[in-house]
Amino acid sequence: MKRKLLGAFLSTAMVASLVVGCGGGNDSAATDAPAETETPAEDAAEDATPAEDTATEGAEAPAAGGGKIGISMPTQSLERWNRDGAYLDEQFKAAGFETILTYSDDKTEQQVNDIQNMLADGVDMLVIAAIDGNALNTALEGAAEQNIPVISYDRLILNDAASYYVSFDNYTVGQLQGEYIVEALDLANAGDKTYNIEITAGDPADNNATYFYQGAIDAIQPYLDNGALNIVSGQKDFDAVATPGWKTDTALARAQNVLSSYYADGTQLDAWLCSNDSTALGVTQAVTSDYAGSNTVVITGQDGDEANLKNIVDGVQTMTVYKNVSNESIVTLALAKAILAGETIDESLIPSFGIECAFDTESYETSAGNKCPSFLLVPNVITKDNLQDLVDTGLYTMGDDGYLSAAN
Ligand code: GAL
Repeated sequence: MKRKLLGAFLSTAMVASLVVGCGGGNDSAATDAPAETETPAEDAAEDATPAEDTATEGAEAPAAGGGKIGISMPTQSLERWNRDGAYLDEQFKAAGFETILTYSDDKTEQQVNDIQNMLADGVDMLVIAAIDGNALNTALEGAAEQNIPVISYDRLILNDAASYYVSFDNYTVGQLQGEYIVEALDLANAGDKTYNIEITAGDPADNNATYFYQGAIDAIQPYLDNGALNIVSGQKDFDAVATPGWKTDTALARAQNVLSSYYADGTQLDAWLCSNDSTALGVTQAVTSDYAGSNTVVITGQDGDEANLKNIVDGVQTMTVYKNVSNESIVTLALAKAILAGETIDESLIPSFGIECAFDTESYETSAGNKCPSFLLVPNVITKDNLQDLVDTGLYTMGDDGYLSAAN
C-alpha cells in the first residue's frame, strides 16, 4: 500500500478559517432557472412522490470565480451524513461555488435521479457518497459523457468515471476497533482463559463495510487462532454478520437472536465488535435488555453519533472511532479546486490541506486493476477518557450532564 503521510494536523477551526479565507466569493440567494429540456429522470423525479428525506437545496446564484457543485449524500437517517452534507455545502459556498445538495433516503434509484438532475442542471463537478457503490453506473456514465469529474466521497464508487476518492483509512478504522478489544480484554496475556466475542458488520452494498470488517478481523484473528477469543455463535463470515443499510433495528434483532440462542445458558459474553455507531446502538440495546451476565461487554462503534457518545459516558458502549467529517469536507473542497484548475493530483497537494492525510494509489480500485488515487484522513479512538478531544474540534459541545451534542 503506497502512502505518503504529509501535512501537519491542525484543529478544524484553524483549518476551516484557512480555507474560508482563501475562498471568498458571494453567497447571494437565487433560484435556479428550470432546465430547458427535462430528462426522463427529471420527469420521473417530478412525478415521483418526494422521498421522505430528499432534501434538495436550490443552487445559489453563480458566484464569482466558482462553478456549480453537485453534492449527493445517501440519507439523512444516519446522523453523520447530515453533518457531511452541511459541511460540504458550507465549504463549497464559502469558496465561491454554487451548490446543489441532495439526500436520497437510502434509495439508490433516488440517488441516480438526483445525480442525473444535477448533471441536467449543469454542474461542473459531482461529490457523491454512494448508497451502493455498484449501482450508480447510469449516473456515472452520464457524468463521463459530459466530462464531469466525480469525487467518491467517503465511500468508493465502483465505476471508473469516479476519478478520485476522499475518505478515511477504512481498514485502519476496523483495525482500531479490533485492537481496542485485544487491549481491553488483555488477550496477549489471556493464558488459558477464553473470551467470548460476537461481530456485527456493516452494509454489504457499502464498499467501506468490508474494509472495516477486514481490518478488525485481522486484528483479532491471532487470538481466534490461539483460542484466547471464541465466537460462540460461529457467525464470523462477513455475509453472516453484515447489516443491510446499517440499520439499528436489524442489528438489534440479530443480536437478540444470538443472545437467546447462545448465551441464555449463562455463557459469558465479553465483547461485541460493531463496525459503526448505528449498529452498535442496536447491539447495546440487545445486550442491555437480553444479556443476563453481570460483566460489562466491550462494545465498539464508529462515527461519534450523539446517542452513542451518551452510551459511552454511561458506560454501555466502550469506544467509537471518530472521523472528523468537517476535515473530510475541507480536503474534498481542496481536491475539487485542484481538479477544476487542472492541477496535478498527487501528494504534493497535501500540505495545502493543513490536515493529516495519506495519498494512496494502491488500496482502492474502481474496476479490476484501475487504481483510484485516494486521499485518506486519519481516524481516532474516542472513549470516556478523551471526549474532550471531540469538544476541542469545535464540532461538539459538552453539557453540564457530561453528555456531548453536535455543535451545529
Ligand atoms: C460508512 C461510513 C461510516 C458509517 C456508515 C454508516 O460508509 O464510512 O462512517 O457510518 O457508512 O453511514
